[in-house]
Amino acid sequence: MGKVHLMEHPLIQHKLTIIRDVNTGPKEFRELVGEIATLMAYEVTKDLPLEEVEVQTPIATAKAKVISGKKIAIVPILRAGLVMADGIMKLIPAAKMGHIGLYRDPDSLKPVEYYCKLPADIEEREMILVDPMLATGGSASAAIDFVKQRGSNHIRLVCLIAAPEGIEQVQKDHPDVDIYVAAIDDHLNSQGYIIPGLGDAGDRLFGTK
Ligand code: PRP
Ligand code: URA
Repeated sequence: MGKVHLMEHPLIQHKLTIIRDVNTGPKEFRELVGEIATLMAYEVTKDLPLEEVEVQTPIATAKAKVISGKKIAIVPILRAGLVMADGIMKLIPAAKMGHIGLYRDPDSLKPVEYYCKLPADIEEREMILVDPMLATGGSASAAIDFVKQRGSNHIRLVCLIAAPEGIEQVQKDHPDVDIYVAAIDDHLNSQGYIIPGLGDAGDRLFGTK
C-alpha cells in the first residue's frame, strides 16, 4: 500500500488557508500555489539517494554529497497542475517536464485524456506527478495508468488537497504510489467537489469563472 504523507509545515498550512479563501484572486492564488509546491518539493525529495564525490574548494579537497540514482521527471496533470510543476521546478531545475492533459467529464465525473507528452527516457526517471486536487481520484488514477503504459515505474503523486475518497481510489488502483498532500479534507459533494476544499482549482488559477 502506498503511503500518504501529510505535510503539516506551518508555512504550507498558512499559505493553504489563504488559497482556500474565496476572496483570494487569481494572481495571489497562482503565486501561493507555486510557493506551496516549492515547499512540498523539499519534503517529497527528502529520500532521494546521495553519493559521495570529491569537490575542490578554494582551500582543500572536500568529500561531499550529490544526488545519485534516477533523474527526475515532473509531470503536471493539465491544466491545474501547471503552476505546481513550475513551483517544484524551482527546486529541481535540471528535471525534465512531461504533460498529461485530462479533464473530468462534468456529468460522468470520469477522466477524459486529450494530451500526453513525456520525456523520451521516462522509464529511467523518478516521476513527480502533480495536480492540486485529488477528488474522486479518477484523474490521478487514469494519469498513473497512462504513464505506467509508457514505461514509468517510480511515481510519486503530489496534491494540495485530497478527499479521503480520492486517496482510497489511488491506493486501491496503484498501491506502489506514495501520495503527498498538504491537507486531507472531509468529503466530496454530489458534484464531486472537495468539501471544504478551495473550489475549482483550474478556474481559480486561470480566472476562467
Ligand atoms: C480537476 C483537478 C483534477 C481533477 C480532480 O481538474 O485539477 O485534475 O479535477 O478530480 P478527480 O479526482 O475527481 O478526477 P479538471 O477536470 O477540473 O480540469 P482542469 O484542470 O482542466 O480545470
Ligand atoms: N476539481 C477541483 O478543481 N476542485 C475540486 O474540489 C474537485 C475537483
